[in-house]
Amino acid sequence: MFPDIIKNSAVLAPLAGVTDPVYRRVCRRLGADAVVTEMVSADGLHYKSENTAKLMEFDESERPVGVQFFGSDPERLANAARFACERVKPDFIDLNAGCPVAKVVKNGAGSALLKDAALFGKIVEAMSQAVAIPVTVKIRSGWNMYEWVDVEFARIAQDSGAAAVTLHPRSQTMMFTGHSFWERIAAVKEAVSIPVIGNGDVTNAADAMKMFAETGCDAVMIGRGSLGNPWIFAEIKAAQRGEAFIPPSSQERKTLIIDQIRAFREAYGEQRACGDMKKRVAWHLKGLPGAGAARAEVFASSSSLKIEEIVDRFFGS
Ligand SMILES: Cc1cc2nc3c(=O)[nH]c(=O)nc-3n(C[C@H](O)[C@H](O)[C@H](O)COP(=O)(O)O)c2cc1C
Repeated sequence: MFPDIIKNSAVLAPLAGVTDPVYRRVCRRLGADAVVTEMVSADGLHYKSENTAKLMEFDESERPVGVQFFGSDPERLANAARFACERVKPDFIDLNAGCPVAKVVKNGAGSALLKDAALFGKIVEAMSQAVAIPVTVKIRSGWNMYEWVDVEFARIAQDSGAAAVTLHPRSQTMMFTGHSFWERIAAVKEAVSIPVIGNGDVTNAADAMKMFAETGCDAVMIGRGSLGNPWIFAEIKAAQRGEAFIPPSSQERKTLIIDQIRAFREAYGEQRACGDMKKRVAWHLKGLPGAGAARAEVFASSSSLKIEEIVDRFFGS
C-alpha cells in the first residue's frame, strides 16, 4: 500500500513554523500528493505538553498525511508513534533524522542520529514495531560533507522496518548552504528496495522531472520551492501528464492569498494571522513589479485585515 501512495508523487516537505494545517491544505488542493506535519518532539509528548500534541493535528482533507517525530530515545519515539495513532490516526509516521539546527542536534536528535548507526537502527525498529501503519525515515547524507553515510543509514532503515526513506542530500554542517548532491539520491535508490523520496532544491517542475530522471527516485519532496508558489505541485502534475502548465492569474494569486489570511484568522486568531501572514505574503510578492513597497507596507501592518487590503490593492481587480 505505501509504495502505491508514494509512486511518482510530489510530497510537501515538513517545514517547522511553515507547514501548518492551513498551508498543507492549500498544497493538497493544488496537487501535493501527500503532506507531513512539522516535526513534533517525542520528548515534549513524554512530558505531556499539550502544545506539542497539537502539532500532530490535521484535517481529514489533508490525507494522506504523516506525523513526523524528532527525538533520540527509542522508547519515547515508539510511544510517540503509538500516541499519534491513537489520537489522530495518521496514514504514516516519519522519523526526523535530518534536522541540522543546534537546539535539536545538541540533544542527539535530528541529523545527530546519523552519528550513531546502532541507536538509529534501534529507533527505527522500535517505532516500526510500535504501530501498524508505515514508518518512514527522513535523513541527510551525513554529518560532514563528503563523509556520506546515506547508503548505510538507508539500508539500516530498511532492515529495521522502515517503509520508505526520504533523502535530503546535504550534510549537517552545510545546513541549507551550497547545493544538494542529487547523485546521493541515485546511490541510495540503488542500494535499497523500499521507496526512495528525493528532496532538495526542487524549485519548479523541470527540476522535479530532472530529479526523477537523474536519480530514479520514487517520489519528490518539495519544501522551500513551494513558498509563495504552492502551484509548483500543479505544475509538476501537469508535467507528469505531459501537459502545458497555465500559471495562475493575478486574480487567482490574490484569491489564494486572501483565502489563506482568512483561514489563518479563523484557525489561529488575529494575532497569529497578522504575524504569520506577513512572511507568507512577502513570499508571494517576491519578484513581482512593485513588490518592495508593498512588502514594506505589509510588514508595517498592525492587522490581518490591513494585509488583506494591501494584497487586494496590489493585485488589482
Ligand atoms: C524553515 C524550515 C523548516 C524545516 N523544518 C523541517 C522539519 O520540521 N522536519 C524536517 O524533516 N525537515 C525540515 N526542514 C527541511 C526540509 O523538510 C527539506 O528537507 C529541506 O528544506 C530541503 O528541501 P527543499 O530544498 O525542497 O526546501 C525544514 C527546512 C526549512 C527551510
